[in-house]
Amino acid sequence: MTENIFLTTLNGKKLNQTPIWIMRQAGRHLEEYRRIRASQKDFISFCLNPEKASSVSLQPIARYHFDAAIIFSDILLVPWAMGLNVRFKPGVGPLLDAIEKPDDITNKCLINFTKYLDPVGKAIKLTRLALPQNVALIGFAGAPWTLLTYIAEGKSSRDFTKTRLWTWQNVKELDALLEILIEATISFLSLQAAAGAECLMLFDSWASAVSAAHRDWLITQPTHAIVRGVRKNGYNQPIIGFPRGFGEGIINYAEKSGVDAIGLDHGIDPKWANKNLPKGFPVQGNLDPLSLISAGKEMLRNIDYILESFHDRPHIFNLGHGITPKTPVANVQIMVDHIRNS
Ligand code: CP3
Repeated sequence: MTENIFLTTLNGKKLNQTPIWIMRQAGRHLEEYRRIRASQKDFISFCLNPEKASSVSLQPIARYHFDAAIIFSDILLVPWAMGLNVRFKPGVGPLLDAIEKPDDITNKCLINFTKYLDPVGKAIKLTRLALPQNVALIGFAGAPWTLLTYIAEGKSSRDFTKTRLWTWQNVKELDALLEILIEATISFLSLQAAAGAECLMLFDSWASAVSAAHRDWLITQPTHAIVRGVRKNGYNQPIIGFPRGFGEGIINYAEKSGVDAIGLDHGIDPKWANKNLPKGFPVQGNLDPLSLISAGKEMLRNIDYILESFHDRPHIFNLGHGITPKTPVANVQIMVDHIRNS
């Protein structure tokens, strides 16, 4: 059997070759994605079409031979399956009917929750069957805090005022809502693990908005509860946590959240991360996605700096956030070739 260098690295072994994949690789920077996407107007039904979701998950593997594929879905499928009205407006992004108060949502919303998400499991099964054996399949979900920001604000936000006010004014109600989101996330990740995902990733894209005083409460502890819940359900797949913009908070997160690896955003200096994270703890990241727009010498130097910083630590090469729609595919290839020839 061919070795899966992504999973070996995640398990804590340093190899000569650095595995590569990129966040949001299955998506709008690929013309072959845009072509299939155009065949289905509604984004949620697109995500819930197992054949289409599977075929776009495979596209970046066919093109770049990455070491991992990520299943095509979205973090906002969780609030959708909880019964919230979630839709995606072209040129605007996600829109939800924002709730007034955290206790507007009760755990009644979890009845039938996993049934609605069954197509994601089907897409995972189809994708795993079609993938080469040495390419791992990643399942994912949004972390509770990040989901909360969309549920409270009703859209992508700049300053998260409403969500952050809840953290100071509605502590008890917020705790109850966090519990519901934790339970939903455990179910969604377990469904994906049961279907054949070999790694799970938790996106906490707006961890940056949390007050340092609330980092444990809103980020690290909910993550730990999710890791414990998935394990209790019998799934031992490695879990990557990605608390974006969490700064020095990542040290405590790596030690206390129970995740097996941490995704680093491009605001983190890899030398600093290497010095401060627990020895041997696997990391993923962290090239600025915008460096790929021109893919010049400065990008190559930055790739070298990242590789060199982690030469002693299990490291999965990735971007510091998702690839942007305007990135030329030739530039992604320059990045991949540079890493593979290093
Ligand atoms: O390639 C992959 O990574 C797999 C698919 C994937 C999507 N969304 C598909 C998608 C993944 C991993 C996500 C995660 C996601 N979704 C996050 C966390 C990661 C991050 O970028 O911080 C967040 C915050 C969302 C919520 C979301 N979904 C937003 C804000 C938007 C609109 C803006 C955008 O990024 O495009 C989406 C829509 C979305 N999700 C698209 C895709 C390919 C674009 C919609 C389209 O193709 O019409």
